[in-house]
Amino acid sequence: MRNTQFALCFILASFFCGAYGAKITFTNKCPYKVWPGTLTSAQKPQLPKTGFELASGQSDSVDVPSPWEGRFWGRTGCSSNSGKFSCATADCGSGQVACNGAGAVPPATLAELHVEANGGQDYYDISNVDGFNVPMSIAPQGGTGDCKPSSCPANINDVCPPELQMKGPDGKVVACKSACVAFNQPKYCCTEEFNSPDKCKPTQYSEIFEKQCPQAYSYAYDDKSSTFTCFKGPNYTITFCP
Ligand SMILES: *[C@@H]1O[C@H](CO)[C@@H](O)[C@H](O)[C@H]1NC(C)=O
Repeated sequence: MRNTQFALCFILASFFCGAYGAKITFTNKCPYKVWPGTLTSAQKPQLPKTGFELASGQSDSVDVPSPWEGRFWGRTGCSSNSGKFSCATADCGSGQVACNGAGAVPPATLAELHVEANGGQDYYDISNVDGFNVPMSIAPQGGTGDCKPSSCPANINDVCPPELQMKGPDGKVVACKSACVAFNQPKYCCTEEFNSPDKCKPTQYSEIFEKQCPQAYSYAYDDKSSTFTCFKGPNYTITFCP
């Protein structure tokens, strides 16, 4: 009986078992090039695409299996100097356009996604916990339930206080560190004695991020308004400069 079920499940996988996962479409609405990066969590195999170039106005897509958990971000100001690829913001340090399992060096805006198996509850968010570099949104398409888009459309670089600024070679602010990234203190990182939602509170710094992008995580335990859910296997659109 079990075997029969498995066989049926295998044959009808795409109809009943949700095994095909989700299509993630990246669109770049910024007036400049962005190099998206992808990172699969939990020691699972990386996606076939871990980094690629996206010109202004372009779209490209990546398929993720189900279940899947990981994150996406956008690198800016990238170039190949003496054959080694690197980026002014959110670099992954691989020396190539592909990140090959390396994550973004903060500060970086992140889109985090958990795709549940069998059409169960997906959840997703935009996070400024590691700071901000580029405006970003994630929106499900299809699926049932809440399924609202989550967006951080503001350019936080424009209001970033001096102690959090990361500047490019021309002196322009290219990214904004979170207080955790800038100062590495438990009260900002929600670690040690601050390691719980009732002990780790918003700070003057997290409130700057929260005010600009209320839908995004502004610090590690800011989850009352920042986690979004959707059921029944939606696809996702990730937009830079939504
Ligand atoms: C997701 O995209 C795939 C491929 O384009 C499509 O076949 C499928 O119907 C889409 N799923 C939903 C829930 O819209």
